[in-house]
Amino acid sequence: MFSVATAKYTSFNVPLTLTLKGPLDHDHDHEDQAHHKANPDRCDGIEFDAIAPDEKGHTFFFKGDHLWNGFNGPAQVSSAFFKELDDYHHLGHVDAAFRMHNKEKPKDHDHIYFFLDDKVFSYYNHSLEEGYPKDIQLDFPGVPGHLDAAVECPKGECNSDSVLFFKGDEVYNYDIATQSVKERQWAHLPNCTSAFRWLEQYYCFHGHNFTRFHPVSGEVNGVYPKDARHYFMRCPNFGHGGEAKVPKCSEVTLDAITSDDSGKTYAFTGHIYMRLDTHRDGKHAFPIARTWKELDKGVDAVFSYSDKIYIIKGNQVYIYKSAAPSTLIEGYPKSLKEELGIEGPVNAAFVCADHHIVHIIQGQKMQDIDLSATPRVVAREVPLPIAGIEAGMCGPDGVKVYVGSKFYHYETPRLLAFSKMSPEPKKITPDMMGCVE
Ligand SMILES: *[C@@H]1O[C@H](CO)[C@@H](O)[C@H](O)[C@H]1NC(C)=O
Repeated sequence: MFSVATAKYTSFNVPLTLTLKGPLDHDHDHEDQAHHKANPDRCDGIEFDAIAPDEKGHTFFFKGDHLWNGFNGPAQVSSAFFKELDDYHHLGHVDAAFRMHNKEKPKDHDHIYFFLDDKVFSYYNHSLEEGYPKDIQLDFPGVPGHLDAAVECPKGECNSDSVLFFKGDEVYNYDIATQSVKERQWAHLPNCTSAFRWLEQYYCFHGHNFTRFHPVSGEVNGVYPKDARHYFMRCPNFGHGGEAKVPKCSEVTLDAITSDDSGKTYAFTGHIYMRLDTHRDGKHAFPIARTWKELDKGVDAVFSYSDKIYIIKGNQVYIYKSAAPSTLIEGYPKSLKEELGIEGPVNAAFVCADHHIVHIIQGQKMQDIDLSATPRVVAREVPLPIAGIEAGMCGPDGVKVYVGSKFYHYETPRLLAFSKMSPEPKKITPDMMGCVE
């Protein structure tokens, strides 16, 4: 079940960014380059001015009049991406930046805001919105100028859709709807020079280090600070270094795929897993063992059922709580025989939402096991019309089973089992897995 493509995703400490390149990656910054300072190298250990994602989930790191687009690659001139930033008094840097999360006001949602002195700039699709730059006070009353950092905090993570602004050791919690500002000091947190929300976590950057904090309490859990070069960029002497290879879509093959009740979707290949539902933050690959630490040798099949994630490897079943951090349920792993009444290996497994049946695919047969019954027994076994299925999931739009770098889409498990005609296989696309054509 290990695929050739596995080698293409390298396993290391750093999020392997699968974000595709931005819309402005041409060379038109070259003629501009002359009047800018030499390209900084973020592997030297840089204190960033600002970090923020754009509406497509590309993360930008700012330093002086340069930026980096994503976790890989060299510095580029900021004004090649955000043209007007350079026009404004030729300040040559931004103080802070964040991406707006405001579902109530679609007009502002996903805009990227920059702060320079006492001005704010709002961009969408890399174009400056009309009426900007403006005084910060007009858009964000009560928020001071000359900020150090800013970060979005959507409702659910903060009490309401908010922005956290940082200046010195002051934190300003700005409620977007009421425009009210609560000022606080988190004495244990270093002064942040940039702040970044990424995959539901909050990071305060200071020097070339970062500290993860809780956006409501400011609490820091774990061993911090950490060196950003190990985590947010690829540097030769940090992590495992080297170039990250983004695989071609035609080479991507999955070992397993699943979506849990909260909509988090995970694809597994070799030692790597990817979150597929994180459009706003780009798609990123991580070592499986980073999240499910007992599984350092890959997986065969994964399914989600009642707030838990079931991972099958060989003849063993591992059950984890879905909620972060993933913890293995006591008493696991157990044998497949004991847990589900079958022998391994398993090629693919899935449960449809609100159902209690796990559909287990082994070779060219599918077995249905009722998870609400004890003991667990195979209630039904059917031959399948297609061979070579290695991963499968059931979502709101039906069942997808993956064969090589293609997948078949069926409306229901029943149709997968009984269709006389196989549907046309579809290709895995960059949109789905962050691969390249
Ligand atoms: C943090 O900010 C406060 C207020 O601006 C300042 O007095 C203090 O020296 C700063 N701390 C560090 C470590 O820079």
